[in-house]
Amino acid sequence: MRILVIGTGGREHAIVRALSLDPSVTELHAAPGNPGIAKLARLHFVEPNDPADVTRLARKLRADLVVIGPEAPLVAGVADAVREAGIDVFGPDAGAARIEGSKAYSKEIMAAAGIPTARSRTATTAGEAGAALAEFGPPYVVKDDALAAGKGVVVTSDLAAAKAHAAACGTVVIEEYLDGPEVSLFALADGTTAVPLLPAQDFKRAGDGDTGPNTGGMGAYCPLPWAPDGLVDEVMAAVVQPAIDELARRGTPYKGLLYAGLALTGKGVRVVEFNARFGDPETQVVLDRLATPLAGLLRAAATGGLASVPALSWHPGAAVTVVLAAEGYPDKPAKGDKIVYPERIERSVLQAGTSHDAQGRLVSSGGRVLNALGSGSDVSAARAAAYEVIAQVEMRGGWYRRDIAAGKDPSGGYGGSSPRDRSTA
Ligand code: AMP
Ligand code: GLY
Repeated sequence: MRILVIGTGGREHAIVRALSLDPSVTELHAAPGNPGIAKLARLHFVEPNDPADVTRLARKLRADLVVIGPEAPLVAGVADAVREAGIDVFGPDAGAARIEGSKAYSKEIMAAAGIPTARSRTATTAGEAGAALAEFGPPYVVKDDALAAGKGVVVTSDLAAAKAHAAACGTVVIEEYLDGPEVSLFALADGTTAVPLLPAQDFKRAGDGDTGPNTGGMGAYCPLPWAPDGLVDEVMAAVVQPAIDELARRGTPYKGLLYAGLALTGKGVRVVEFNARFGDPETQVVLDRLATPLAGLLRAAATGGLASVPALSWHPGAAVTVVLAAEGYPDKPAKGDKIVYPERIERSVLQAGTSHDAQGRLVSSGGRVLNALGSGSDVSAARAAAYEVIAQVEMRGGWYRRDIAAGKDPSGGYGGSSPRDRSTA
Protein backbone atom coordinates (compact mmCIF):
# COMPACT_ATOMS: atom_id res chain seq x y z
CA MET A 1 0.00 0.00 0.00
CA ARG A 2 1.32 3.46 -0.96
CA ILE A 3 0.28 6.02 1.65
CA LEU A 4 0.51 9.82 1.73
CA VAL A 5 0.13 11.54 5.11
CA ILE A 6 -0.77 15.26 5.14
CA GLY A 7 0.42 17.42 8.06
CA THR A 8 3.50 18.57 9.97
CA GLY A 9 3.01 17.89 13.67
CA GLY A 10 3.77 15.41 16.42
CA ARG A 11 0.48 13.72 15.63
CA GLU A 12 1.57 13.14 12.03
CA HIS A 13 4.98 11.91 13.21
CA ALA A 14 3.15 9.37 15.42
CA ILE A 15 0.89 8.31 12.52
CA VAL A 16 3.84 7.97 10.14
CA ARG A 17 5.80 5.99 12.72
CA ALA A 18 2.92 3.54 13.25
CA LEU A 19 2.49 3.18 9.47
CA SER A 20 6.24 2.61 9.04
CA LEU A 21 5.95 -0.45 11.31
CA ASP A 22 3.15 -1.96 9.20
CA PRO A 23 4.50 -4.52 6.68
CA SER A 24 1.58 -3.85 4.30
CA VAL A 25 2.94 -0.32 3.66
CA THR A 26 5.23 -0.41 0.64
CA GLU A 27 5.74 3.35 0.19
CA LEU A 28 5.31 6.06 2.79
CA HIS A 29 5.10 9.72 1.78
CA ALA A 30 4.34 12.82 3.84
CA ALA A 31 3.69 16.46 3.03
CA PRO A 32 4.77 18.96 4.19
CA GLY A 33 6.19 16.85 7.10
CA ASN A 34 9.13 17.77 9.34
CA PRO A 35 12.71 16.54 9.86
CA GLY A 36 11.58 13.76 12.21
CA ILE A 37 9.00 12.49 9.73
CA ALA A 38 11.64 12.71 6.98
CA LYS A 39 13.52 9.84 8.62
CA LEU A 40 10.54 7.53 8.01
CA ALA A 41 8.78 8.89 4.91
CA ARG A 42 9.64 10.75 1.70
CA LEU A 43 8.68 14.40 2.09
CA HIS A 44 6.96 16.53 -0.58
CA PHE A 45 6.01 20.17 -0.85
CA VAL A 46 2.29 20.78 -0.72
CA GLU A 47 -0.14 23.49 0.31
CA PRO A 48 -2.03 21.29 2.80
CA ASN A 49 -5.25 23.33 2.70
CA ASP A 50 -5.46 23.41 -1.10
CA PRO A 51 -7.70 20.58 -2.38
CA ALA A 52 -6.24 20.74 -5.92
CA ASP A 53 -2.64 20.73 -4.74
CA VAL A 54 -3.09 17.73 -2.42
CA THR A 55 -5.00 15.85 -5.15
CA ARG A 56 -2.23 16.58 -7.67
CA LEU A 57 0.38 15.17 -5.28
CA ALA A 58 -1.71 12.09 -4.41
CA ARG A 59 -2.17 11.37 -8.13
CA LYS A 60 1.49 11.89 -8.92
CA LEU A 61 2.50 9.45 -6.16
CA ARG A 62 -0.24 7.00 -7.23
CA ALA A 63 -1.24 6.87 -3.56
CA ASP A 64 -3.62 4.10 -2.51
CA LEU A 65 -4.59 6.00 0.63
CA VAL A 66 -4.30 9.62 1.75
CA VAL A 67 -4.37 10.24 5.52
CA ILE A 68 -5.21 13.81 6.50
CA GLY A 69 -3.89 14.79 9.93
CA PRO A 70 -5.05 18.35 10.78
CA GLU A 71 -8.54 19.85 10.79
CA ALA A 72 -7.95 22.80 8.46
CA PRO A 73 -7.58 20.73 5.24
CA LEU A 74 -10.63 18.65 6.19
CA VAL A 75 -12.79 21.74 6.73
CA ALA A 76 -11.40 23.17 3.46
CA GLY A 77 -12.64 20.15 1.47
CA VAL A 78 -9.33 18.42 0.76
CA ALA A 79 -10.82 14.95 1.48
CA ASP A 80 -13.73 15.65 -0.91
CA ALA A 81 -11.36 16.51 -3.76
CA VAL A 82 -9.07 13.52 -3.26
CA ARG A 83 -12.08 11.16 -3.06
CA GLU A 84 -13.52 12.67 -6.22
CA ALA A 85 -10.23 11.77 -7.92
CA GLY A 86 -10.93 8.13 -7.02
CA ILE A 87 -8.33 7.84 -4.23
CA ASP A 88 -9.23 6.46 -0.79
CA VAL A 89 -9.00 8.98 2.03
CA PHE A 90 -8.85 8.69 5.80
CA GLY A 91 -10.55 11.90 6.91
CA PRO A 92 -14.10 13.24 6.57
CA ASP A 93 -15.45 15.37 3.74
CA ALA A 94 -16.03 19.05 4.51
CA GLY A 95 -19.72 18.48 5.24
CA ALA A 96 -18.94 15.96 7.99
CA ALA A 97 -15.87 17.87 9.26
CA ARG A 98 -18.24 20.72 10.16
CA ILE A 99 -18.75 18.80 13.39
CA GLU A 100 -15.41 20.36 14.36
CA GLY A 101 -15.44 23.37 12.01
CA SER A 102 -18.52 24.96 13.55
CA LYS A 103 -19.30 24.71 17.26
CA ALA A 104 -22.91 25.70 16.54
CA TYR A 105 -23.26 22.88 13.98
CA SER A 106 -21.76 20.41 16.43
CA LYS A 107 -24.40 21.46 18.99
CA GLU A 108 -27.10 21.05 16.34
CA ILE A 109 -25.94 17.47 15.62
CA MET A 110 -25.88 16.64 19.31
CA ALA A 111 -29.38 18.03 19.85
CA ALA A 112 -30.76 16.12 16.85
CA ALA A 113 -29.12 12.87 17.96
CA GLY A 114 -29.87 13.22 21.68
CA ILE A 115 -26.17 13.26 22.63
CA PRO A 116 -25.50 14.53 26.19
CA THR A 117 -23.64 17.85 26.21
CA ALA A 118 -23.62 21.20 28.00
CA ARG A 119 -26.76 23.28 27.55
CA SER A 120 -25.87 26.15 25.22
CA ARG A 121 -26.98 29.20 23.26
CA THR A 122 -25.55 30.50 20.00
CA ALA A 123 -25.14 34.30 20.15
CA THR A 124 -24.30 36.78 17.41
CA THR A 125 -24.96 40.10 19.18
CA ALA A 126 -23.78 41.60 22.48
CA GLY A 127 -27.38 41.47 23.71
CA GLU A 128 -27.74 37.75 22.99
CA ALA A 129 -24.33 37.04 24.52
CA GLY A 130 -25.16 39.00 27.68
CA ALA A 131 -28.46 37.17 28.08
CA ALA A 132 -26.83 33.74 27.65
CA LEU A 133 -24.04 34.58 30.14
CA ALA A 134 -26.66 35.65 32.68
CA GLU A 135 -28.69 32.50 32.05
CA PHE A 136 -25.81 30.06 32.72
CA GLY A 137 -23.87 32.10 35.31
CA PRO A 138 -20.17 31.74 36.21
CA PRO A 139 -17.79 30.14 35.42
CA TYR A 140 -18.55 31.40 31.91
CA VAL A 141 -17.72 29.27 28.85
CA VAL A 142 -17.51 31.23 25.58
CA LYS A 143 -16.52 29.47 22.34
CA ASP A 144 -15.74 31.00 18.98
CA ASP A 145 -18.06 29.33 16.46
CA ALA A 146 -15.24 28.97 13.92
CA LEU A 147 -11.96 27.01 13.94
CA ALA A 148 -9.46 28.85 16.11
CA ALA A 149 -6.53 26.43 16.49
CA GLY A 150 -7.25 25.75 20.15
CA LYS A 151 -7.55 29.42 21.08
CA GLY A 152 -11.27 29.90 20.56
CA VAL A 153 -12.47 28.89 24.01
CA VAL A 154 -12.41 31.10 27.09
CA VAL A 155 -13.43 29.70 30.48
CA THR A 156 -13.54 32.50 33.06
CA SER A 157 -15.38 33.80 36.10
CA ASP A 158 -14.77 37.37 34.90
CA LEU A 159 -17.97 38.57 33.20
CA ALA A 160 -16.19 41.44 31.41
CA ALA A 161 -13.60 39.02 29.95
CA ALA A 162 -16.37 36.66 28.84
CA LYS A 163 -18.22 39.52 27.10
CA ALA A 164 -15.01 40.79 25.48
CA HIS A 165 -14.27 37.34 24.01
CA ALA A 166 -17.83 37.10 22.67
CA ALA A 167 -17.52 40.53 21.04
CA ALA A 168 -14.13 39.67 19.51
CA CYS A 169 -15.43 36.44 17.95
CA GLY A 170 -18.71 37.56 16.38
CA THR A 171 -20.70 34.33 16.49
CA VAL A 172 -20.14 32.38 19.71
CA VAL A 173 -21.53 29.40 21.54
CA ILE A 174 -22.07 30.16 25.23
CA GLU A 175 -22.63 27.18 27.45
CA GLU A 176 -23.04 25.69 30.85
CA TYR A 177 -19.79 24.93 32.73
CA LEU A 178 -19.02 21.20 32.92
CA ASP A 179 -17.38 20.05 36.14
CA GLY A 180 -15.37 16.81 36.15
CA PRO A 181 -12.27 15.13 34.70
CA GLU A 182 -11.86 15.18 30.94
CA VAL A 183 -11.35 12.16 28.71
CA SER A 184 -10.47 12.01 25.01
CA LEU A 185 -11.95 9.02 23.20
CA PHE A 186 -11.01 8.46 19.56
CA ALA A 187 -13.07 6.27 17.25
CA LEU A 188 -12.30 5.10 13.72
CA ALA A 189 -15.40 5.45 11.55
CA ASP A 190 -16.23 4.27 8.03
CA GLY A 191 -19.52 6.08 7.51
CA THR A 192 -21.61 3.53 9.43
CA THR A 193 -19.44 1.46 11.77
CA ALA A 194 -17.26 2.94 14.53
CA VAL A 195 -14.40 1.28 16.45
CA PRO A 196 -12.99 2.89 19.62
CA LEU A 197 -9.29 3.31 20.43
CA LEU A 198 -7.99 3.51 24.03
CA PRO A 199 -9.24 6.45 26.11
CA ALA A 200 -6.58 9.05 26.92
CA GLN A 201 -6.25 12.28 28.86
CA ASP A 202 -4.40 15.40 27.85
CA PHE A 203 -3.21 18.44 29.80
CA LYS A 204 -4.44 21.63 28.15
CA ARG A 205 -3.19 24.33 30.49
CA ALA A 206 0.35 25.66 30.09
CA GLY A 207 1.33 25.56 33.77
CA ASP A 208 1.81 22.90 36.43
CA GLY A 209 -1.33 22.20 38.44
CA ASP A 210 -3.52 23.12 35.44
CA THR A 211 -2.78 26.83 35.70
CA GLY A 212 -2.13 29.43 33.00
CA PRO A 213 -3.54 29.74 29.48
CA ASN A 214 -5.06 26.99 27.35
CA THR A 215 -2.65 25.39 24.88
CA GLY A 216 -2.92 22.77 22.18
CA GLY A 217 -1.93 20.24 24.87
CA MET A 218 1.21 19.90 27.02
CA GLY A 219 1.21 16.16 27.56
CA ALA A 220 -0.98 13.07 27.62
CA TYR A 221 -1.21 9.51 28.85
CA CYS A 222 -3.17 6.34 28.18
CA PRO A 223 -4.88 4.15 29.14
CA LEU A 224 -6.79 5.66 32.09
CA PRO A 225 -6.52 3.29 35.07
CA TRP A 226 -9.06 5.33 37.00
CA ALA A 227 -11.75 5.35 34.27
CA PRO A 228 -15.04 3.79 35.33
CA ASP A 229 -15.77 0.28 34.01
CA GLY A 230 -17.85 0.39 30.88
CA LEU A 231 -16.92 3.98 30.02
CA VAL A 232 -15.89 3.19 26.44
CA ASP A 233 -19.04 1.14 25.74
CA GLU A 234 -21.19 3.88 27.23
CA VAL A 235 -19.55 6.62 25.13
CA MET A 236 -19.80 4.53 21.96
CA ALA A 237 -23.51 3.91 22.57
CA ALA A 238 -24.51 7.38 23.80
CA VAL A 239 -22.14 9.65 21.88
CA VAL A 240 -20.11 8.23 19.00
CA GLN A 241 -22.59 5.93 17.24
CA PRO A 242 -25.46 8.46 17.43
CA ALA A 243 -23.18 11.13 15.92
CA ILE A 244 -22.10 8.79 13.09
CA ASP A 245 -25.75 7.82 12.45
CA GLU A 246 -26.91 11.45 12.43
CA LEU A 247 -24.19 12.51 9.97
CA ALA A 248 -25.06 9.56 7.68
CA ARG A 249 -28.75 10.48 7.86
CA ARG A 250 -27.84 14.00 6.68
CA GLY A 251 -26.02 12.62 3.65
CA THR A 252 -22.54 13.42 5.03
CA PRO A 253 -21.17 10.02 6.12
CA TYR A 254 -18.21 10.32 8.45
CA LYS A 255 -15.06 8.48 7.31
CA GLY A 256 -12.05 9.11 9.46
CA LEU A 257 -11.35 9.67 13.11
CA LEU A 258 -14.06 11.09 15.33
CA TYR A 259 -12.61 12.58 18.52
CA ALA A 260 -15.02 12.92 21.42
CA GLY A 261 -13.77 15.33 24.12
CA LEU A 262 -15.74 14.39 27.23
CA ALA A 263 -16.27 15.62 30.77
CA LEU A 264 -17.21 13.00 33.37
CA THR A 265 -19.57 15.13 35.44
CA GLY A 266 -21.55 14.25 38.54
CA LYS A 267 -24.59 13.91 36.29
CA GLY A 268 -22.87 11.60 33.80
CA VAL A 269 -20.79 11.84 30.64
CA ARG A 270 -21.10 15.10 28.67
CA VAL A 271 -19.50 16.04 25.35
CA VAL A 272 -17.20 19.07 25.59
CA GLU A 273 -16.38 19.04 21.88
CA PHE A 274 -16.03 16.91 18.78
CA ASN A 275 -12.94 17.02 16.58
CA ALA A 276 -12.71 15.62 13.07
CA ARG A 277 -9.16 14.27 13.41
CA PHE A 278 -6.71 12.56 15.74
CA GLY A 279 -6.00 14.65 18.87
CA ASP A 280 -2.55 15.99 19.58
CA PRO A 281 -0.75 14.91 21.84
CA GLU A 282 -3.12 12.04 22.75
CA THR A 283 -2.40 10.29 19.43
CA GLN A 284 1.27 10.02 20.34
CA VAL A 285 0.41 7.78 23.32
CA VAL A 286 -2.60 5.96 21.86
CA LEU A 287 -0.77 4.84 18.71
CA ASP A 288 2.25 3.83 20.81
CA ARG A 289 0.02 1.24 22.50
CA LEU A 290 -1.73 0.01 19.34
CA ALA A 291 -0.46 -3.43 18.32
CA THR A 292 -2.80 -3.96 15.34
CA PRO A 293 -1.13 -2.71 12.13
CA LEU A 294 -2.45 0.81 11.46
CA ALA A 295 -2.60 0.98 7.66
CA GLY A 296 -5.25 -1.73 7.32
CA LEU A 297 -7.42 -0.01 9.91
CA LEU A 298 -7.21 3.40 8.23
CA ARG A 299 -7.95 1.84 4.85
CA ALA A 300 -10.92 -0.07 6.27
CA ALA A 301 -12.28 3.21 7.64
CA ALA A 302 -11.75 4.89 4.27
CA THR A 303 -13.49 2.11 2.33
CA GLY A 304 -16.42 1.13 4.54
CA GLY A 305 -14.79 -2.05 5.83
CA LEU A 306 -14.59 -1.60 9.60
CA ALA A 307 -17.36 -4.11 10.37
CA SER A 308 -15.12 -6.96 9.22
CA VAL A 309 -11.95 -5.84 11.04
CA PRO A 310 -10.94 -8.17 13.94
CA ALA A 311 -10.92 -6.74 17.48
CA LEU A 312 -7.99 -4.37 17.98
CA SER A 313 -5.01 -5.55 19.99
CA TRP A 314 -3.00 -3.34 22.34
CA HIS A 315 0.42 -3.53 23.92
CA PRO A 316 0.05 -4.03 27.68
CA GLY A 317 1.09 -1.24 30.03
CA ALA A 318 0.87 2.51 29.52
CA ALA A 319 2.38 5.41 27.57
CA VAL A 320 3.05 9.00 28.59
CA THR A 321 4.13 11.94 26.45
CA VAL A 322 5.53 15.27 27.62
CA VAL A 323 5.64 18.25 25.24
CA LEU A 324 8.76 20.41 24.97
CA ALA A 325 7.50 23.95 24.30
CA ALA A 326 9.41 26.93 22.95
CA GLU A 327 10.14 30.04 24.99
CA GLY A 328 7.08 32.29 24.91
CA TYR A 329 4.55 29.57 23.99
CA PRO A 330 1.54 29.86 23.70
CA ASP A 331 1.52 33.66 23.16
CA LYS A 332 4.66 34.34 21.13
CA PRO A 333 6.80 31.25 20.66
CA ALA A 334 10.46 31.85 19.83
CA LYS A 335 11.71 30.13 16.69
CA GLY A 336 15.10 29.06 15.38
CA ASP A 337 16.53 27.63 18.61
CA LYS A 338 18.93 24.74 18.09
CA ILE A 339 17.71 21.33 19.33
CA VAL A 340 20.20 18.67 20.38
CA TYR A 341 19.56 15.20 21.76
CA PRO A 342 21.48 11.92 21.75
CA GLU A 343 20.76 9.44 18.98
CA ARG A 344 19.89 6.72 21.49
CA ILE A 345 16.61 8.49 22.41
CA GLU A 346 15.57 9.11 18.80
CA ARG A 347 12.90 6.39 18.91
CA SER A 348 11.34 8.13 21.91
CA VAL A 349 11.10 11.58 20.33
CA LEU A 350 8.27 12.67 18.04
CA GLN A 351 8.93 15.99 16.35
CA ALA A 352 6.33 18.73 15.89
CA GLY A 353 7.52 22.35 15.44
CA THR A 354 10.94 21.55 14.01
CA SER A 355 12.85 22.36 10.83
CA HIS A 356 16.39 22.49 9.49
CA ASP A 357 18.30 25.78 9.36
CA ALA A 358 20.56 26.81 6.48
CA GLN A 359 23.40 24.76 7.99
CA GLY A 360 21.17 21.69 8.21
CA ARG A 361 20.92 21.81 12.00
CA LEU A 362 17.69 20.85 13.75
CA VAL A 363 15.94 24.00 15.06
CA SER A 364 12.57 24.93 16.51
CA SER A 365 9.92 26.33 14.19
CA GLY A 366 6.74 26.25 16.25
CA GLY A 367 5.36 26.52 19.79
CA ARG A 368 5.11 22.84 20.59
CA VAL A 369 8.53 21.64 19.45
CA LEU A 370 8.61 17.92 20.17
CA ASN A 371 7.11 15.16 22.28
CA ALA A 372 9.13 12.91 24.58
CA LEU A 373 7.51 9.50 24.73
CA GLY A 374 7.80 6.93 27.49
CA SER A 375 6.18 3.58 28.01
CA GLY A 376 6.16 1.12 30.88
CA SER A 377 4.19 -1.45 32.79
CA ASP A 378 1.95 1.25 34.27
CA VAL A 379 1.40 5.01 34.06
CA SER A 380 4.00 5.82 36.68
CA ALA A 381 6.71 3.75 34.95
CA ALA A 382 5.80 5.32 31.60
CA ARG A 383 5.91 8.76 33.18
CA ALA A 384 9.40 8.17 34.59
CA ALA A 385 10.56 7.01 31.14
CA ALA A 386 9.10 10.09 29.37
CA TYR A 387 10.75 12.50 31.81
CA GLU A 388 14.06 10.67 31.45
CA VAL A 389 13.84 11.26 27.68
CA ILE A 390 12.93 14.94 27.87
CA ALA A 391 15.74 15.62 30.35
CA GLN A 392 18.20 14.68 27.59
CA VAL A 393 16.89 17.23 25.08
CA GLU A 394 18.75 20.53 24.98
CA MET A 395 17.12 23.66 23.59
CA ARG A 396 17.54 27.28 24.68
CA GLY A 397 14.33 28.51 26.31
CA GLY A 398 12.69 25.08 26.08
CA TRP A 399 10.29 24.22 28.91
CA TYR A 400 7.76 21.58 29.87
CA ARG A 401 5.23 20.74 32.53
CA ARG A 402 6.61 18.69 35.41
CA ASP A 403 3.30 17.15 36.46
CA ILE A 404 2.09 15.26 33.38
CA ALA A 405 0.39 12.03 34.60
CA ALA A 406 1.65 12.73 38.12
CA GLY A 407 -1.11 10.81 39.87
CA LYS A 408 -1.87 13.20 42.71
CA ASP A 409 -5.60 13.10 42.29
CA PRO A 410 -7.15 9.62 42.08
CA SER A 411 -10.70 10.93 41.63
CA GLY A 412 -9.81 13.34 38.84
CA GLY A 413 -7.32 11.04 37.19
CA TYR A 414 -3.70 12.08 37.05
CA GLY A 415 -4.10 15.81 37.32
CA GLY A 416 -5.05 16.22 33.66
CA SER A 417 -7.44 18.85 32.39
CA SER A 418 -10.05 19.01 35.10
CA PRO A 419 -12.51 21.87 34.84
CA ARG A 420 -12.71 22.04 38.65
CA ASP A 421 -9.40 23.90 38.74
CA ARG A 422 -10.06 26.03 35.75
CA SER A 423 -12.33 28.82 36.82
CA THR A 424 -10.15 31.50 35.30
CA ALA A 425 -9.01 31.86 31.73
P1 AMP B 1 -12.92 22.94 23.25
O1 AMP B 1 -12.13 23.59 22.16
O2 AMP B 1 -14.40 23.02 23.08
O3 AMP B 1 -12.41 21.56 23.57
O4 AMP B 1 -12.54 23.70 24.58
C1 AMP B 1 -11.21 23.79 25.03
C2 AMP B 1 -11.15 23.45 26.51
O5 AMP B 1 -11.97 24.37 27.26
C3 AMP B 1 -11.72 22.08 26.83
O6 AMP B 1 -10.80 21.06 26.67
C4 AMP B 1 -12.10 22.26 28.25
O7 AMP B 1 -10.96 22.10 29.08
C5 AMP B 1 -12.58 23.68 28.31
N1 AMP B 1 -14.05 23.69 28.17
C6 AMP B 1 -14.74 23.72 27.00
N2 AMP B 1 -16.07 23.68 27.23
C7 AMP B 1 -16.23 23.62 28.57
C8 AMP B 1 -17.37 23.56 29.45
N3 AMP B 1 -18.63 23.58 28.97
N4 AMP B 1 -17.15 23.51 30.77
C9 AMP B 1 -15.89 23.51 31.26
N5 AMP B 1 -14.78 23.58 30.51
C10 AMP B 1 -14.94 23.64 29.17
N1 GLY C 1 -5.42 17.58 22.47
C1 GLY C 1 -6.46 18.44 22.06
C2 GLY C 1 -6.69 18.49 20.62
O1 GLY C 1 -6.05 17.82 19.83
O2 GLY C 1 -7.58 19.22 20.22
